[in-house]
Amino acid sequence: MKIAVVGTGYVGLVTGTCFSETGNTVTCIDIDARKVRKLSSGEITIYEPGLEHLFQRNLKEGRLRFTTSLVDGISDAQIIFLALPTPPGKDGAADLSYVLGVADELGNLLDDYKVIVDKSTVPVGTADKVREVIARKYKGEFDVVSNPEFLREGVAVDDFMKPDRVVIGTRSERAQRLFRELYAPFVRQGNPVLFMDERSAELAKYAANAFLATKISFMNEIARMCELLGADVDMVRRAIGSDERIGKRFLFPGIGYGGSCFPKDVQALARSAAEVGYPFRILESVMHVNESQKVYLVPKIMDYFKGRLQGRKIALWGLAFKPNTDDIREAPALYIIEALLAEGVHVHAFDPEAMPNVRQLLGDRISYGTDQYSVLEDADALIIATEWSVFRTPDFEKMDAAFAQKVIFDGRNVFEVPQMQALGYYYESVGRQPAAILD
Ligand code: UDX
Repeated sequence: MKIAVVGTGYVGLVTGTCFSETGNTVTCIDIDARKVRKLSSGEITIYEPGLEHLFQRNLKEGRLRFTTSLVDGISDAQIIFLALPTPPGKDGAADLSYVLGVADELGNLLDDYKVIVDKSTVPVGTADKVREVIARKYKGEFDVVSNPEFLREGVAVDDFMKPDRVVIGTRSERAQRLFRELYAPFVRQGNPVLFMDERSAELAKYAANAFLATKISFMNEIARMCELLGADVDMVRRAIGSDERIGKRFLFPGIGYGGSCFPKDVQALARSAAEVGYPFRILESVMHVNESQKVYLVPKIMDYFKGRLQGRKIALWGLAFKPNTDDIREAPALYIIEALLAEGVHVHAFDPEAMPNVRQLLGDRISYGTDQYSVLEDADALIIATEWSVFRTPDFEKMDAAFAQKVIFDGRNVFEVPQMQALGYYYESVGRQPAAILD
């Protein structure tokens, strides 16, 4: 099939590359000429494990190409995916100006039947708006489909190639036929392609993310209860996760969810609920809990140092909002850094991938280590904000040599409490009793 993808951000690039991998011819379109030049010359612009290899292969074999020209990019495409940014606009509502702007241009450019697909997470009713905008100028036949993505950063290629389900929102049989063919290679292992109306598809995406965010915030509150009641959240998590109705996944407490989806989508769903006159109370609480969870380690650190943080050096492992990505959008680490800087702390950070992005944002307001051990030298304490696997299995001898104070505040529970107790650390984590330094 011939496909166009408008927008070469994270979703667009993964979508375009994976569709070319199954033999389609894909043209990706972006207004950013520098980016298009880079991509055309084989330089990938995002960090996503496993993507580069597919990108290079399909580029070389001519199934994947990049252009700045919308007219050129869509000319022979049967399906046009819109993978455009929908940043939170005023009052948390998603800003649709990019999506509707391209829809307007498409109204001028269409000349035969094509399917236009909303791939970005967009508020319920957007497919109708896109259809209206195109139909103002183009009087021929076309369809607008909602096909939300459920990709997780770090495992996006796998999520795309082996989806749990594919949601297709369209009532047009012609569009359904095209999508059945397009997605056939991805659902061979038996997972469903679910056809539904556009609005249900749009809402399904928000509902999925909001539900997962709720699960996390719920566990973060249970973790707080564990600390106060002398229980252990790992035990509680295992006990409840064994119930298939609850499930084992997404029950890990920590310092809150971040990233480009959960915060934005929870806010947008709460906002659209308010717009239709329904106060979505659970989501209000989820957002509230997450805000406080992001900086939840700071009062603990404050207590440990009896309120005297001024001039201290604190090491920070992890800046990305989660492992295997360089993405720092809504990363809890950034909120912790701001809170510590406000107390006069010197922050020395290390992250395997995200340091360039943080340097761009914060410059030399903090300092950056060359590896995870160098930041520990002279540090009064270590905070762990992202559970990269290199942090889970450090060389403890190296760590001991660099880190005389042996005080850890772990926001991601990467170590076991007895292990740290035995190694002689003061160790506080989330939802578990602290390990004290043995005299
Ligand atoms: C998410 C959705 O999973 C994906 O389906 C959607 O398309 C986009 O948003 P992503 O933001 O890449 O994907 O990350 P994900 O792995 O879902 O984690 C989101 C956040 O939740 C991270 O900050 C992570 O640290 C946190 N999290 C996750 C927890 O705190 N506890 C958990 O048990 C799981």
